[in-house]
Amino acid sequence: MVVVGCQWGDEGKGKIVDVLAEEVDVVARYQGGANAGHTVHVGDDEFILHQIPSGILHPAKRCLLGNGVVLDLIQFFEEYDALLRRGIEVEGRVGVSRRAHLLLPYHRVLDRALEDEAADKIGTTGRGIGPAYEDKAGRRGIRVADLEDEDRFRELVARGVARARGRLVELGREEDDDLDQAVEKVARLRERLLALSTDTGREVDLALARDQRVLLEGAQGTALDLDHGTYPYVTSSNTTAAAAATGIGVGPTRIRSVLGVVKAYTTRVGNGPLPTEFDPEMDERMRELGGEFGATTGRPRRCGWFDAVLARHAARVNGLTGLAVTKLDVLDSLPEVSVATGYRTPAGVVEEFPADTWGLESVEPILETHEGWEVPTTGARSLEDLPRNARRYLDRIQELTGAPIEMVSVGTRRSQIVRVA
Ligand code: IMP
Repeated sequence: MVVVGCQWGDEGKGKIVDVLAEEVDVVARYQGGANAGHTVHVGDDEFILHQIPSGILHPAKRCLLGNGVVLDLIQFFEEYDALLRRGIEVEGRVGVSRRAHLLLPYHRVLDRALEDEAADKIGTTGRGIGPAYEDKAGRRGIRVADLEDEDRFRELVARGVARARGRLVELGREEDDDLDQAVEKVARLRERLLALSTDTGREVDLALARDQRVLLEGAQGTALDLDHGTYPYVTSSNTTAAAAATGIGVGPTRIRSVLGVVKAYTTRVGNGPLPTEFDPEMDERMRELGGEFGATTGRPRRCGWFDAVLARHAARVNGLTGLAVTKLDVLDSLPEVSVATGYRTPAGVVEEFPADTWGLESVEPILETHEGWEVPTTGARSLEDLPRNARRYLDRIQELTGAPIEMVSVGTRRSQIVRVA
């Protein structure tokens, strides 16, 4: 099963994966890096995970990072050690693909320098994602398997540092003295990482052959996908479901179901179009109601109404077999809720998500307004517990998106979930 975000990330995938992890044997991430921020609440504890799959919070589940991930070693072990300190049994449960590319300290420095210089700023998380995937596609990346031979690893890193310094000089940046120290820190983590390295494709294949259940967890969302999102305001990997196969190392025929996660409204961090964006007053209100601040950068998220045009696009490009709607409770106090069913453009009404990102900046959403429910939904555990107007709203989302709703999340706790199917 693949769990994939259907908006601009931050759909609450962490919570959904956390609930589903209970029922699976293996949880694996297939793309992205420490740009992701999964917030999971266990009892009164809050965990924010950037690199390690949130399945780690369930005892005995195997957690994998596939070859499609860019691995920030320093961040990874900070998280690993923090989990250990909080009493989570991590040893022997985490595996990292030997084919995964390393995200090195110079990627972060370059990410920030490139952003500062860019004419059209993307608003990246500054975690080095773009430069790391650039090196991968440019066939000069360094992979986990390269850690095996320390001399060769050091030589590859030295080349990477020299190249990065050259680029920084071109960008008018001073020498970064910290870079050598940071690289040394990575080198010291070599053996620890090698001890965790594995072939994720083979592991998943074997698990499936043994009839075990595997959950492939996407990071970011469909609108941030390098091919299917609002390019260039996207992340540098394929976030959509098909990438789960390549990013873990199994064939697409191994994937049986794809659960798309949508928030009951829309948010986005970083720059780029957000067709249903609220006016500043409502934006502020929703941000407060939904606690919409980035888990990785703390940046305020931009908010808007649910966008069915985007959700339909996501249903198609991901081949969704089901839908999970999150944060329904955030809308509880609103007298009215709206959904965008199409966009008005100078060329007429469109119902398909346009490829032209610049054109998308100026579309006018066609909003359909529904009566709110104005009672708390946080205690609901079945569809019948939900107020009628909330059910109508969900029915409409399902109808417009074209995928059956399987789960509805009504709060941050594990128990605050409505299972439909
Ligand atoms: P990058 O992935 O750091 O290169 O950032 C590219 C774009 O993706 C920016 O708009 C980021 O705000 C956005 N982004 C990256 N990761 C996440 C995420 O986990 N949630 C939401 N937005 C993200």
